[in-house]
Amino acid sequence: MMRKFLFCGLLLLVFTLPALAEDTVCLQCHGGQEGRLGAPVGQWQTSIHAQNGISCHDCHGGDPSDFAMAMDPSRGFIGVPAYTEVPAFCARCHLGVAEDYAASAHGQALERGGPQCVVCHGNHAVVKASIALINEQSCSRCHSYERAAQVKQTISETEATLTQLDTKIVGLHRLGIDTQKIKGELFAGRNDFRRLFHTVNLEKMRAQTDEFGQRLGKVQAQVDSIESTLSQRKMLGGLVVLLLLVAGGVAMLIRKSYHDEE
Ligand code: HEC
Ligand code: HEC
Ligand code: HEC
Ligand code: HEC
Ligand code: HEC
Repeated sequence: MMRKFLFCGLLLLVFTLPALAEDTVCLQCHGGQEGRLGAPVGQWQTSIHAQNGISCHDCHGGDPSDFAMAMDPSRGFIGVPAYTEVPAFCARCHLGVAEDYAASAHGQALERGGPQCVVCHGNHAVVKASIALINEQSCSRCHSYERAAQVKQTISETEATLTQLDTKIVGLHRLGIDTQKIKGELFAGRNDFRRLFHTVNLEKMRAQTDEFGQRLGKVQAQVDSIESTLSQRKMLGGLVVLLLLVAGGVAMLIRKSYHDEE
């Protein structure tokens, strides 16, 4: 009986382990390769794509469950995109960003060596995007850093407000406040704002940053109002405690003087 139980447990483990680790034939075979064929596995493992379940075959196509046919074009294998094909390759999932990019000075210069997605984000070690990607080392490869610096300055302040509001909302949520609606408002605005960079158009950024700043102002006002209600409640709570303490003190005094009289 025990042995049968152990056997079943073992079987279960064998069948669920690969699923848990999302192990595919792509990872298994490339994990054992050297050089340019093996390197992507380690780089991808800590990426935001791995964290969100986007694996080799989601980008390169192919059949992740068939060793022999994995990289067959008949199973949808696309292979490696050429430099100018990368935007379309990523656009399958990041359509909005890719549209802004295509219309931008960078997108328009693609055929003449303008930067594409991988130049700024990398291919396998893609991490969560932030304005830290705008730095002298990366942005002065093709032109002076000056205009990049202006872009960074334009969006930094708003970015900082965003981060601060995000932290506050998380804090309110921890206190048991229903932050669903307010979070939705922040998220909707945030995605539009974070797409904006790809236009690399300073005029447009300035205009939209102002507009977005006003939207953030409204979210800020809601957060402030919740916080002041909370602190009022806290004060009220404090007052009640104080009253109780005073009442307790009075009661003790009365009792004491009653005892003294005896
Ligand atoms: C049995 C081993 C094996 C499996 C399984 C396998 N690969 Fe490969 N892969 C290779 C080898 C060997 C090469 C280099 C030779 C070649 O291009 O055929 C390669 C090349 C590649 C390349 C580069 C092609 C180029 O043109 O440079 C990509 C991208 C790739 N594989 C992705 C995948 C994906 C995605 C999967 C799963 C759907 C997968 N591989 C499954 C062994 C494998
Ligand atoms: C987010 C999409 C994405 C994912 C996920 C991804 N790749 Fe790639 N991969 C690319 C792009 C884009 C290129 C072309 C890079 C370039 O031009 O620098 C590439 C290139 C490659 C190459 C060619 C490298 C060279 O130097 O010639 C191989 C091999 C490869 N990928 C294998 C893999 C394997 C294996 C996985 C899973 C561990 C994987 N890729 C996951 C986007 C992806
Ligand atoms: C099969 C779908 C898919 C493909 C193809 C794909 N991605 Fe992603 N990507 C995702 C998902 C899902 C996330 C995580 C959710 C999110 O943040 O949008 C993500 C996140 C990202 C992020 C972080 C976004 C953030 O919130 O900070 C960047 C940057 C990114 N991808 C760049 C790329 C680049 C560059 C390529 C092409 C080489 C690419 N992606 C191809 C699905 C994909
Ligand atoms: C010139 C450098 C550069 C290029 C080219 C570039 N990006 Fe970005 N990307 C950035 C920067 C910088 C941010 C962060 C902007 C911010 O935080 O406001 C970003 C943000 C993102 C985000 C997160 C935005 C969001 O909505 O949360 C995604 C996804 C993304 N890029 C994907 C792509 C894809 C796909 C391409 C190609 C079509 C691309 N990027 C081309 C620099 C670049
Ligand atoms: C691979 C080369 C390359 C890289 C890397 C690069 N750029 Fe550019 N950039 C260009 C080209 C090409 C143009 C368009 C021609 C021109 O105006 O010089 C351009 C134009 C611009 C413009 C002017 C847009 C306009 O409408 O006038 C800004 C702003 C800009 N880039 C910001 C950045 C930032 C920020 C980074 C770093 C995240 C960056 N660039 C990285 C090649 C590059």
